[in-house]
Amino acid sequence: MSDDSRHPFLKGLSKHRGAQPTIITIFGASGDLCARKLVPAIYNLAVDNLLPADFSLIGYGRKPIPDDEFRKLAHDSITQFSRRPLNEDIWNRIEKNAHYCSGGYDELDAFVALKEKIEAVEKDMGREAQSVIYVSTPPSVFEPIIKNLGASGLATRYQDADSHTKVVIEKPFGKDLDSARHLNKVIQGVFQERQVYRIDHYLGKETVQDLLVQRFANSIFEPLWNRQYVDNVQITVAESLGVGTRGGYYEQSGATRDMIQNHTMQLLALTAMEPPVSLDPEAIRDEKVKLLKAIKPLNLDYQNSDVIRAQYTEGLVDGQKVEGYRQSEGVSPESETETYASLRLNINNWRWEGVPFYLRSGKRMARRVTEIAIQFKRPPSTLFSENEMFNLAANSLVFQIQPDEGSTVLLNAKIPGLQTRTQPVKMHFKYSATFGSNTPEAYERLVLDAMLGDGTLFIRGDETEASWSLITPLHEFWASEGQRGMENYVSGSWGPRAADRVLWEKGHEWRRP
Ligand code: NDP
Ligand code: BG6
Repeated sequence: MSDDSRHPFLKGLSKHRGAQPTIITIFGASGDLCARKLVPAIYNLAVDNLLPADFSLIGYGRKPIPDDEFRKLAHDSITQFSRRPLNEDIWNRIEKNAHYCSGGYDELDAFVALKEKIEAVEKDMGREAQSVIYVSTPPSVFEPIIKNLGASGLATRYQDADSHTKVVIEKPFGKDLDSARHLNKVIQGVFQERQVYRIDHYLGKETVQDLLVQRFANSIFEPLWNRQYVDNVQITVAESLGVGTRGGYYEQSGATRDMIQNHTMQLLALTAMEPPVSLDPEAIRDEKVKLLKAIKPLNLDYQNSDVIRAQYTEGLVDGQKVEGYRQSEGVSPESETETYASLRLNINNWRWEGVPFYLRSGKRMARRVTEIAIQFKRPPSTLFSENEMFNLAANSLVFQIQPDEGSTVLLNAKIPGLQTRTQPVKMHFKYSATFGSNTPEAYERLVLDAMLGDGTLFIRGDETEASWSLITPLHEFWASEGQRGMENYVSGSWGPRAADRVLWEKGHEWRRP
């Protein structure tokens, strides 16, 4: 597989120094994420020769699972979910070093037994191995797991624990500001911040990383990236899927906790932050935190609210009839959980004063699309005043994060002919056309970066708190209001009409991606 026909992403990665010998332990290894994303990610890293020669995988969970059965589950999940077909030779190399330990997440003895297992595996390797501990359980057990990693000595197996033990923590990181702060304190009681890798898988997406390159490696954009030229910014994270079988989880979460507080706010931070002084992880994270802290508190007054929440009702998606949210499995018929939210944000800094940032995310929308649209101010209309001859649009630059990854610039151009007539036209850059398809999945990049000790694409503790500081007052307000202000939208639409009104008030309208 390692030849010049490889995806450019991989050619870039192969310049990385290799990861040190690694034992990765996954808590919650019998779960959905492990099967659909983590095991396939590990397998695809092996396909690309990006795993260290000394590598071992240990699953951990409450239900006893013999090693053979765990290996079979992992094999089947690769067959079902890997982006590339299973190669038995490559799998065999992982399989012979795959093990399973069972025990409760609050049972110290079981953690001590896990530590002994890790030490036995390391002894077989014949050399020191770093521990990457991936916490992929429901958040209700994050705290006991972290505490037991400390109490059992797993977190401090080496004197030089900083570079030998890393902990990766899945989302959601807390459900509000207090719980996020509490979880950060628990973690800080056991680990140094540089050992902690809080996941937001959107940061692992290639196009999200490309945002930094497009912004800071092109001199044509940076001079325009401010209130002088930008009229508004629109960030859309739309899904056509409904809640499916995750109704129980989603009822406690809703669109703002599930998508806005993390993925959408990260897209906003990368779009609007100041240039970092270097590509050092801390430099980038410092800028993101500064930006998140500069967002003005949300106006929740019904007359002029910055926020709209809504639930989907039944409708048609891709030509198929789908049920409404309240009819879904695990969802209360009186549910007060939003499946859509849109926010109008104002950033209180020199660059962005007066430029609205519109964010929206919802399930069961017209189609799956994530994009960031920078809408520029209209040109002065002295030369081409608007009439039927001059169809002029404001310029825009749109980053298509997924699907159809790429970017598009909207310009005005002359329609060929003797008369001077104008029309908006699009200039496209498409990833697949330039670099080919089969881009690695976000989890491949993130698992590899955690092994390499590169925290750039992970969330720092203060970042998550800054984001919760904005969102928590909103949840408190909704909790006090019950159903009041909850809008509906038909499945397969672009969301509630009320969300359009918020933009009309400022003379804007949502793009139709
Ligand atoms: P699961 O619900 O599948 O749970 C994972 C494992 O944790 C289960 O197999 C089970 O293992 C154990 N577990 C389940 N419920 C409980 C409980 N109430 N108390 C203690 N242990 C429990 O979760 P996912 O795999 O879907 O998700 C794991 C983490 O990843 C979560 O934090 C989730 O928010 C996050 N995530 C998941 C995504 C996904 O697509 N699935 C996407 C993004 C983030 P056992 O019984 O063997 O102990
Ligand atoms: C997860 C959310 O974090 O992201 C899910 O919990 C959502 O509800 C998913 O469907 C979307 O991720 P992606 O990569 O498919 O856009």
